[in-house]
Amino acid sequence: MKNLVKIWDSPTRLFHWLLVILFGFMWYSGETGNYLDLHMKSGMLILSLILFRLIWGFIGSTSSRFSNFISPVGAIKHALTLFKRDPEVNAGHNPLGGLMVIAMLVMLALQAGVGLFSSDLVLTEGPLFNLVDEETAEEMTDYHYLGFEILLYLTGLHVAAIVFYRIVKRTNLVKPMITGKADWPQDQAKPKLMFKNPFIALLVLIVSIATVFGGVTYLSGL
Ligand code: HEM
Ligand code: HEM
Repeated sequence: MKNLVKIWDSPTRLFHWLLVILFGFMWYSGETGNYLDLHMKSGMLILSLILFRLIWGFIGSTSSRFSNFISPVGAIKHALTLFKRDPEVNAGHNPLGGLMVIAMLVMLALQAGVGLFSSDLVLTEGPLFNLVDEETAEEMTDYHYLGFEILLYLTGLHVAAIVFYRIVKRTNLVKPMITGKADWPQDQAKPKLMFKNPFIALLVLIVSIATVFGGVTYLSGL
């Protein structure tokens, strides 16, 4: 019989899958140049989601808190046991995966941040394009291209790590990110996790969206 234990709250799961959908759209719209207006709006939504995740990493449920998965020493220890074929469950990200999570969040924030100043120098200008001179805007656009390359590598590594866990460690990480629950070994004590009310997350999300969209509108009028 399965011994299911809740490890991810709904806000963190929604955050993740929304990010995946938006990232796919950013890729399509950026590369083809179609829907660039929506590309910019969705990019600002990604920035809002990252701000939400940053705040949730301090005040959210136990498994979503940075303090629960940021541990450089833990990451080294984890790396040493990476090729052990035993199934492995964590009440959240393992410390090595945690580093990856931080790298992705920082890269996404930088990518969306420089996007605000980017331009194709023909038809489309980011909302803060006018705040910088043309040379800086060109540089920002170059960083926007480079940032995306880096993000593609990080995402590739991210998905490869998940496949590695499935095949080598026989651990399914995707299911808990969808359902919130992991199959916990019968012989291990269940983790003691605190889950925050999702309405608090909704409030944080609204504040994050208002901050990003309000802030950009204010700055673009300067
Ligand atoms: C279909 C492709 C993807 C799958 C199957 C997938 C799956 C997962 C899984 C299973 C986790 C939890 C890992 C763990 O248990 O430690 C996770 C976390 C994460 N993934 Fe993905 N992912 C995908 C694509 C992406 C993309 C495209 C991005 C962003 C560019 C992304 C960003 C993240 C982030 C930031 C986290 C940390 C979540 C948090 O703590 O808030 N993922 N992903
Ligand atoms: C994480 C969020 C974002 C991702 C993944 C992303 C991705 C991309 C990609 C792949 C391109 C095409 C690059 C190329 O032609 O090789 C692009 C172009 C562009 N992006 Fe983004 N972007 C993001 C956020 C933003 C934001 C927030 C804005 C502005 C509000 C923005 C504005 C632009 C503009 C103006 C272009 C056109 C540049 C050109 O065609 O020369 N992006 N983006």
